[in-house]
Amino acid sequence: MKNYIILLITLQSVFSARILKEQFAWNQLDYAYPSFDERQEALRTGRFVPENNLPVGIEIWGDKLFVSVPRWRVGIPSTLNYIPLSKNVGKSPALIPYPNWKSNEAGNCESGLTTVYRIKADECHRLWVLDTGTFGIDDTTTNPCPYAINVFDLFTNQRLRRYELRKEDINANTFIANIAIDIGKDCNDVFAYMSDELGYGLIVYSWEQNESWRFEHGFFRPDPLKGEFNIGGLEFQWDAEGIFGMSLTPLQPDGYRLMHFSPLASEREFVVSTGTLRNSSKVGDSYKEFYSLNERGPLSHTTSRVMDDYGIQFFNLIDRNAVGCWNGRYDYRPENFGVVDKDDVGLSFPADVKVDAQRNLWVISDKMPNFLLSSLNYSEINFRIYFAPIQVLIQNTVCEIQVAEHNYYYL
Ligand SMILES: *[C@@H]1O[C@H](CO)[C@@H](O)[C@H](O)[C@H]1NC(C)=O
Ligand SMILES: *[C@@H]1O[C@H](CO)[C@@H](O)[C@H](O)[C@H]1NC(C)=O
Ligand SMILES: *[C@@H]1O[C@H](CO)[C@@H](O)[C@H](O)[C@H]1NC(C)=O
Repeated sequence: MKNYIILLITLQSVFSARILKEQFAWNQLDYAYPSFDERQEALRTGRFVPENNLPVGIEIWGDKLFVSVPRWRVGIPSTLNYIPLSKNVGKSPALIPYPNWKSNEAGNCESGLTTVYRIKADECHRLWVLDTGTFGIDDTTTNPCPYAINVFDLFTNQRLRRYELRKEDINANTFIANIAIDIGKDCNDVFAYMSDELGYGLIVYSWEQNESWRFEHGFFRPDPLKGEFNIGGLEFQWDAEGIFGMSLTPLQPDGYRLMHFSPLASEREFVVSTGTLRNSSKVGDSYKEFYSLNERGPLSHTTSRVMDDYGIQFFNLIDRNAVGCWNGRYDYRPENFGVVDKDDVGLSFPADVKVDAQRNLWVISDKMPNFLLSSLNYSEINFRIYFAPIQVLIQNTVCEIQVAEHNYYYL
């Protein structure tokens, strides 16, 4: 009997890598319109075109699971949305605009959101939302509104602040799809970091000073040898894509964090201290404060990453339909990377990874290259959201941490 059980467990770990639990799945997205008639009217007038809606970013706070939908094409009714996790909403819930419908009006620069990619909740219960102000993608992009940071109070759902990036923060190629938030000694001592993927910059915003500045560095650029991709049955080049994924370590002995980042067209990891980024005088005077680590190895393009409070970094492996991990206590070398889950169907383009307050890892997959370069089949499931406790995910991987190590950690 005992042997039998062991055999079953072994087989399961070989044939079904599925540790992540599928929580939501959609063939196509839908929205929670106030009434049936309003939804019909939106469909009729083209304000809602279901097959143009692709979810790209997630975040979890309290009982809200946020989902962003960029306005790449017409018919996106709302760019920032949520799903209430405490209600029984079923497997394919309609998205609810956050904070409301009115605040998601495209082209309303002052009080609306036009296009949101990645979002981040901070420990002080604020939601950081970067509105790119754009409509369209690649050659079709127009800028009805400027780039602006919007910060919401998650208890009252009121917007606390809107800050437009300065002209000097961006350039003609700017495309910012990612944001990281760095909390210091208190809720005022907070910085946002925004990666300019196509303009090759890193923009810093200080909440306390209400000011922004821009770093430029060779490490923000793509590696010309790493611009080819083969994902979802498609071969294509994303060879202009620079700095994208960012994660922050826990506080180090010097009181700062380390930011890890990679360009998208690259398999290399780079590091800079937030002590550099937080100091606007360091712009143009800090080239050597950025340094490089090893490459991750073949098939390790990544766009999204997060590091938990114990220093375990998780990152999407978009070429492998998988999520990887690295325990920051160990050297950044291929043998120290684990794959916590992989699924060629379910994890086809894992677009975003996030950690919630209960130490679960959440992942959204969305077949993005197929959507952009070909088309999706709406008779099939296209978008999925998964989660699993981190403890379970890293079990029996190189990222596992011993109980004794469950205290503070430094790199
Ligand atoms: C922040 O700065 C912007 C422009 O520089 C200004 O319009 C806005 O009122 C400031 N916000 C706060 C909270 O100081
Ligand atoms: C900021 O950077 C400048 C230039 O490197 C340096 O002189 C100054 O001491 C730094 N300030 C802090 C608070 O570290
Ligand atoms: C779309 O998916 C359905 C269900 O899996 C399948 O039967 C159909 O052949 C697919 N259509 C195309 C064009 O691939």
